[in-house]
Amino acid sequence: MPVTIAPPPNSFRNGPDERGRFGIFGGRFVAETLMPLILDLEAAYTAAKADPAFQAEMNSHLTHYVGRPSPLYYAERLTEHLRAQAAPGQGAKIFFKRDELNHTGSHKVNNVLGQIMLARRMGKPRIIAETGAGQHGVATATLCARFGLKCVVYMGAVDVARQAPNVFRMKMLGAEVVPVQSGTKTLKDAMNEALRDWVTNVADTFYCIGTVAGPHPYPAMVRDFQSIIGRETKQQMLEMEGRLPDSLVACIGGGSNAMGLFHPFLDDPEVAMYGVEAAGHGISSGLHAASLSGGKPGVLHGNRTYLLQDADGQIADAHSISAGLDYPGIGPEHAWLHEAGRVTYLSATDQEALDAFKQCSMLEGIIPALEPAHALAKVGELAPQKPQDHLLVVNLCGRGDKDIPQVAEILGTRL
Ligand SMILES: Cc1ncc(COP(=O)(O)O)c(C=O)c1O
Repeated sequence: MPVTIAPPPNSFRNGPDERGRFGIFGGRFVAETLMPLILDLEAAYTAAKADPAFQAEMNSHLTHYVGRPSPLYYAERLTEHLRAQAAPGQGAKIFFKRDELNHTGSHKVNNVLGQIMLARRMGKPRIIAETGAGQHGVATATLCARFGLKCVVYMGAVDVARQAPNVFRMKMLGAEVVPVQSGTKTLKDAMNEALRDWVTNVADTFYCIGTVAGPHPYPAMVRDFQSIIGRETKQQMLEMEGRLPDSLVACIGGGSNAMGLFHPFLDDPEVAMYGVEAAGHGISSGLHAASLSGGKPGVLHGNRTYLLQDADGQIADAHSISAGLDYPGIGPEHAWLHEAGRVTYLSATDQEALDAFKQCSMLEGIIPALEPAHALAKVGELAPQKPQDHLLVVNLCGRGDKDIPQVAEILGTRL
């Protein structure tokens, strides 16, 4: 039975307002040339959201092409392992929401499917995207191949090197991959280039953004497409355990997998939520990607949110072992939930993520992507502090195949 999720008044799920604001965050700070496009997109999305035919077509592709629902899996060996380190009676029961099993290997496809269907509805034949880890690029290239659309993916040159398998996959799928040489040559720079492309090719191009960032309506639209993760989790946990989970844990780059898991639970006060940012070499080292722990509010990529900045307000370089978390900002809804105190934001270092990557592989036979390995690292700290009847769900939002060459190199293993 589907779970009803209509938001009550004063709900955390009512945002954003009509100007795209979550409190003081969000909005649409864009060049004049882009404004008509953004308004068109908002109108098209509002109409599609209310159209049962659009929803039915999307659900059909989610089932038959993406492979949803993804399982909610009891991670028994990890649970037992952490209980062995906990005080008597302590050690939460850990579940993985297995979005790494989706076609293309991560949660990114949930959102891309929605945006590509919207692009087709709007008659846009050319799709552009930015990508960090390459997962959003692969998902976009995949759906462009499936629907016969032209696809151009912008990717920082550093990420092109560290995510080589995904670059090859995108090319196999017929996409053009443009290495971006500006700035730190990572995700922020890829997004800058994609926005430049969009301004110059306004007539035929749809910009498919990969996370809950960018100008309104992207943060809310991407969140809505990703909320299938939380809706399924709610229903599956009710079926498996007869009640809601006690905690949800998810990694944060821009924050789309986390928003997707959290959003349907925001008005369930008994459900605690933890977002995990990338602490890189440690917050005090300055080499990290933790915008909430180490940043302050500013404007980037069309919205106001927490950003890593230098003393002059210039965007500071982010660092993470994980290309998908290597972004100096965070989606505006997270900035708002942070200030409202509804979600707790933690951070995990490169080394902690690497240790969790190995632990999950050895204990559960699941090689996670480096991104959710950050969430798993904090599960290793949170679970032993909770009682044994505490139900904890972590979003396993990507599989680790793409990270094998990088991790092998870090571990000094020749492939
Ligand atoms: C597997 C995986 N997880 C998480 C992320 C981070 O993105 P978000 O915070 O939008 O979920 C990425 C980004 O590339 C990714 O590939």
